[in-house]
Amino acid sequence: MNRLFDFHTHILPGIDDGSRSVEESIAMLKELARQGASGIAATPHFYAQRSSPEHFFKERQTAWNLLKSRLRVDSLEIRLGAEVQYFEGIQRLEGLEQFCLEGTRLLLVEMPMCTWTRRMISAIIEVNSRENVIVLLAHIERYWQYWNEKALEQFREHGVLMQASTSLFVERRHKAIKLLREGKIHLLGTDSHNMDNRKPDMKQALENINRKNGEQLLLGLIQREAVVLNEMEIYMDCL
Ligand SMILES: [Fe+2]
Repeated sequence: MNRLFDFHTHILPGIDDGSRSVEESIAMLKELARQGASGIAATPHFYAQRSSPEHFFKERQTAWNLLKSRLRVDSLEIRLGAEVQYFEGIQRLEGLEQFCLEGTRLLLVEMPMCTWTRRMISAIIEVNSRENVIVLLAHIERYWQYWNEKALEQFREHGVLMQASTSLFVERRHKAIKLLREGKIHLLGTDSHNMDNRKPDMKQALENINRKNGEQLLLGLIQREAVVLNEMEIYMDCL
């Protein structure tokens, strides 16, 4: 069975609007393993207006310690990261690299739900130009109504990556597959928050990609994951 890494989850307990307890986190983890996840990025929200980086990292560590103490040895790999909400001046924040997914240069950024201004686009490109950062735009399907091809083209030219939600492959399979084929989706995430209304849905997404000769698409995703997760030398060639 082909497995995919989940680049976007709110699996850490009690830190944001995601999992509400260690028990729920463990249930989510088991469900993701059952559904075909090869590993998980724990990406709690970071809002610069509400919290300092120091406070965020302290809270994240506390939540992680709680969960870690209850994990089995054969548990899925969990890497710590963050979902950083775009804010004015993001490109100037010192230590932004610390928000990258553990062991990688991937910085998951959530964009505003409005038409992106030139200033926002330049800020993201500036962040992406930092030596140790590759911006990964979170759940790109949420911004369709605000997209403009020019902005996307600029992002692509600068090597900004796009994460789509697995739900897109469940709800709008044709569109999702088209974007994947066109190289406009690079990595996937469930963005799962809990075990009721926002639970993991990776299995259906995997099946939908795999349908009708989708094997190559799946293998492409797995290959790209290996490159970003292992910081392989062929980085840019492969993306
Ligand atoms: Fe999220």
